[in-house]
Amino acid sequence: MSLVLTLIALLVSLLLFAARRRHGYWQRRGIPHDVPHPVYGNIKDWPKKRHIGKIFRDYYLKYKSSDYPFAGFYFFFSRTAVITDLELVKRVMIKDFNHFENRGIFYNEIDDPLSASLFSIEGQKWRHLRHKLTPTFTSGKMKNMFPIIVKVGEEMDSIFSAKTTAGQGQILEVVDLVARYTSDVIGNCAFGLNCNSLQDPKAEFVSMGKKAIIERRYGGLLDFLIFGFPKLARRLRLKVNVQEVEDFYTGIVRSTIDHRLKTKEKRNDFMDSLIEMYQKEQAGNTEDGLSFNEILAQAFIFFLAGFETSSTTMGFALYELALNQDIQDQLRAEINEVLAKHNNEFTYEGLKEMKYVEQVIMETLRKYPVLAHLTRMTQTDFSPEDPKQFIAKGTVVVVPALGIHYDPEIYPEPEKFKPERFTDEAIAARPSCTWLPFGDGPRNCIGLRFGLLQSCVGLAYLIRGYKFTVCPETQIPIKMVVKNVLLSAENGIHLTVEKLSK
Ligand code: HEM
Repeated sequence: MSLVLTLIALLVSLLLFAARRRHGYWQRRGIPHDVPHPVYGNIKDWPKKRHIGKIFRDYYLKYKSSDYPFAGFYFFFSRTAVITDLELVKRVMIKDFNHFENRGIFYNEIDDPLSASLFSIEGQKWRHLRHKLTPTFTSGKMKNMFPIIVKVGEEMDSIFSAKTTAGQGQILEVVDLVARYTSDVIGNCAFGLNCNSLQDPKAEFVSMGKKAIIERRYGGLLDFLIFGFPKLARRLRLKVNVQEVEDFYTGIVRSTIDHRLKTKEKRNDFMDSLIEMYQKEQAGNTEDGLSFNEILAQAFIFFLAGFETSSTTMGFALYELALNQDIQDQLRAEINEVLAKHNNEFTYEGLKEMKYVEQVIMETLRKYPVLAHLTRMTQTDFSPEDPKQFIAKGTVVVVPALGIHYDPEIYPEPEKFKPERFTDEAIAARPSCTWLPFGDGPRNCIGLRFGLLQSCVGLAYLIRGYKFTVCPETQIPIKMVVKNVLLSAENGIHLTVEKLSK
């Protein structure tokens, strides 16, 4: 018995020693940092008190004037470098990308095929897949998909029309409505399905999408392992996606592929491009082809990344426009003017002329970058000429996008909503890597063009037809859900919506 107790005491002491040593890393290197909590490191406020993006924003603002280009941080026990200098951001994201190719997050392609998407896989596999998928997102492909987006935009317009009256305001929660629009757009483009979420609020497609984002396998109990020790979690054969979600999406992708192969139907969407690659693989061309599981994971990430990010962006844009009526009026004037030139129809060329719509979306994404911090993991020691920039192999690197977006030296009066920050001249006058809602460099968002396109079309439809104002139910300032990694409004966004006569 006493031997067992001695062994336990020894083990606990060893663990404590290892933990303290880990938490002493930045001090030994002389890098500025906050004193870590013995268990949570510097992440103690998350997920209950502060949003993770805001923790990194505050850290950036606190340490950006230090003599070092980054500050030390502990994500539980993982040593993390929070970059505070724009030159180093540029090196990590673009110039020295070969040192920082991976995100170092969990995936498990064998037991949890949905998790092995472009977002999480690493090394040669990622490089190969990114290369294969890039042609899926060219501007030619976007143009082909444009009619699908416009068709769903029109459906959203008719839903708003049915819920509102001319000359009389109606209070609506707008995030849910626009999420049904983006869900239908991406459902059509990634899965080739008319998922009908606009007509039927309970449509399975949206509810499964929400489940995929909110619900956690093991009820969140093993998140500590999945987030903190992704490699160990993979060895333990853990999964992130709940079974119901996995079964639902596997079934959809399987039946879509079967249907298209049988009927030879072409829809010019993401699924067509993925099926072309599947056929190559089936014909023995593994170099250019994709297996069923690989297609499944990509279709799934296109859906998740494409529906949630763009709908929250549109929701935040409507909120800011309701608070800034002059900007809303100017936007509506531009939309009507361009539409008048194009026979009152939404065309791809017309949309490109709506510069102010794009500026409004860009300023929205500055204030509310949906993924508010970007991560990379060092593969090898990063030892540039300046020893202060040294980052050891295995360190997680965080680029605090939200911090950079709220730096008053880059964006004066950062709390103010000013789309004129995004005229061509104003953009050219700022250093690079100062607008990061889609990340930057070779591992930036592959769906950037598509995300902007569907957000701009949706916003143009809404601002053309309706006036948005704040009401007593509008939460000002907006409160964010603190526990989610992506930014989202706590109780949705309630606004008064009034139909305008056409
Ligand atoms: C407003 C809309 C969107 C926003 C704000 C957004 C944001 C982001 C961000 C911040 C990243 C990480 C970039 C980095 O680490 O440098 C990312 C990656 C990614 N996004 Fe998006 N995204 C949007 C729309 C989309 C859409 C529509 C798709 C697909 C149809 C998509 C698919 C992806 C994928 C696959 C990655 C991983 C890329 C890689 O690791 O190679 N996103 N996105």
